[in-house]
Amino acid sequence: MLGGTEKKFGYEWDIYREIIPLHEKQFVEWISPVPLSFFKGRRFLDAGCGIGRNSLWALKAGAASAYAFDYDGRTVRVARENLKDFPNCEVGFESIYDISFQGEFDITFCIGVIHHLRDPKKAVENLVAALKPGGTLILWVYAREGNERFLRFFDPLRKHVTSRIPPIITRYIAIGLTALLKVYLLFPHCSEYLKRLKERSFRHAEAMVFDQLLPEIAHYWTRAEVAHLVEGLPVTIKHLTHTNGMSWTLIAEKAVVQTVRIQNSEDRIQNGI
Ligand SMILES: C[S@@+](CC[C@H](N)C(=O)[O-])C[C@H]1O[C@@H](n2cnc3c(N)ncnc32)[C@H](O)[C@@H]1O
Repeated sequence: MLGGTEKKFGYEWDIYREIIPLHEKQFVEWISPVPLSFFKGRRFLDAGCGIGRNSLWALKAGAASAYAFDYDGRTVRVARENLKDFPNCEVGFESIYDISFQGEFDITFCIGVIHHLRDPKKAVENLVAALKPGGTLILWVYAREGNERFLRFFDPLRKHVTSRIPPIITRYIAIGLTALLKVYLLFPHCSEYLKRLKERSFRHAEAMVFDQLLPEIAHYWTRAEVAHLVEGLPVTIKHLTHTNGMSWTLIAEKAVVQTVRIQNSEDRIQNGI
């Protein structure tokens, strides 16, 4: 069922629809240590693709084909426009809960989506089912570790206020907070992440703040909780990286099923056993 969170993201992506070079840097960090070149010649699935700002770089890196989907109509329209130069990429309107791919993709990735879902386990299960044996799952989610101060002081504002009011008002709050952030960033900082935030234009810093304020659901998971997302599924975790000290990138490989031929009685007779 289409809930409020998807619609709110639709509002966001309708405003911040352009893909900029900074998005490439972000994507490279979010999927690290998997390099962009890994996409060359492979078929990938981008679940909850937003405006297509991640798929674009994977396609430019030479992916063979792709299916990107999102569960908001406005967002899908923007993604189709942004990815129109790639006939090998289909953009669909679909929920991550409803996809029914079985063993079709070399890579499935899901960036910044799972932590906004009511049933993250079910979503991950579907992403793993969509992978070919030996395929690679890439998830990027918010971390609890590294966000303790943010969670104490800022997240209650999202939970109790900005996720519950009309997005247009939330946007004005985001603009005000971005102005404060820009002033804060004028001071010297040791954190590499904060140093890099300085590089963002006001509009793109505002987009980031707005994105934090909008969703009704935003899980900030511990390392163990992220590992738990794939527990019981036929994958092996290859990397679980604390990206930028405030998020988790999980890279897992789907098991290659060994087909064992059971000799039946006919075989035995023919072979004189
Ligand atoms: C924070 S955005 C991230 C978008 C994109 N992955 C990116 O990194 O730019 C979360 C996206 O998940 C989508 N979404 C939320 N629930 C979904 C669902 N059930 N199925 C598919 N997409 C969903 C939203 O519409 C939104 O575009």
